[in-house]
Amino acid sequence: MKAPFNSRAAIAAFLCAGTPSLAGFTKYCPSNSPSSQVCYSVGVPSASASTNTGNIYFQLSAPTTLQWVALGTGTGMSGSNMFIMYQDGAGNVTISPRKGTFHTEPKLDMSDTATELELLEGSGVEGGMMTANVRCGNCESWSGGEMSLQSTGSSWIAAWRKGGSLGTADRGARLAQHDDTASYEVDLTKAVVEADENPFVQSSEGSGNGSGSGSDTGDKGGSPGQGGDDGGVTVVDHGPSATVVAAHGVIMALVFAVLYPLGALLMPLLGKWWAHGAFQAVSWALMWAAFGLGIKIAQEESLVRYPILVSSWSEVD
Ligand SMILES: *[C@@H]1O[C@H](CO)[C@@H](O)[C@H](O)[C@H]1NC(C)=O
Ligand SMILES: *[C@@H]1O[C@H](CO)[C@@H](O)[C@H](O)[C@H]1NC(C)=O
Repeated sequence: MKAPFNSRAAIAAFLCAGTPSLAGFTKYCPSNSPSSQVCYSVGVPSASASTNTGNIYFQLSAPTTLQWVALGTGTGMSGSNMFIMYQDGAGNVTISPRKGTFHTEPKLDMSDTATELELLEGSGVEGGMMTANVRCGNCESWSGGEMSLQSTGSSWIAAWRKGGSLGTADRGARLAQHDDTASYEVDLTKAVVEADENPFVQSSEGSGNGSGSGSDTGDKGGSPGQGGDDGGVTVVDHGPSATVVAAHGVIMALVFAVLYPLGALLMPLLGKWWAHGAFQAVSWALMWAAFGLGIKIAQEESLVRYPILVSSWSEVD
């Protein structure tokens, strides 16, 4: 099928200051992942972008010290469309489509609307890295959500877990809970690739003439022909900062274990009611401050951070 003229892509190309090629796929390597080496790329063929339906391509790559690596569309695990990569034990990887559920294990999606994933050339395990180059035929909608292929702020989630190879081609393999997660947004208008084909390997036709591959590890960006901007990825702050969590814990412990008992002792020691009262009032104020921090933490946890990825599940739906 021939793609109709794509004005969005034309504008993007114009904005690239004379670069005739499209922006190319976006790439994001969460800084909280091991050595920042867990990377996720997404490319939307111009034909899919203009019709808001059809194939998109994504890549997961990670060190083999990780047991599994997940990518998903949506703002949280609940209702998300998840793609999980793990080693197949034969030098390649397994890519498993799963439906994210809240507080229970995500299930292998075997329904009629199941996500249509195909593992492509360039996938495999090599040099301590595992890579999945994937075509998704229907990622614009799934049972539980939708993602416009024209979105300038599509929501994505990521998760990973360290551990030995699962070594299975079973797409319903049991997975243990994640070590860490990330949330980010992709401006899909900056992820447009020209041809409806695997953008993560050099194609014979050479679509776009950009820096090409970008499928190798290490470097940031990987958006061919872009002048050092962020490549359309916005990191979404998820979870409370470690400082806030520490402050909450330290202040609470101090108030209850030290200040209150000390304040109580002031009465028999000094016999001055105002000293006792003032001391306890300060302790009391500190307690409420720490309580406020606790609420902030709880809000941030439940708003953005998904509580549990999985404990285990079976293939039976
Ligand atoms: C992994 O599987 C894909 C899909 O079958 C294939 O294209 C690719 O070449 C395989 N990689 C290796 C290293 O065998
Ligand atoms: C790549 O660039 C070269 C020189 O800039 C040009 O001659 C060639 O046609 C381009 N190829 C494609 C596929 O755009």
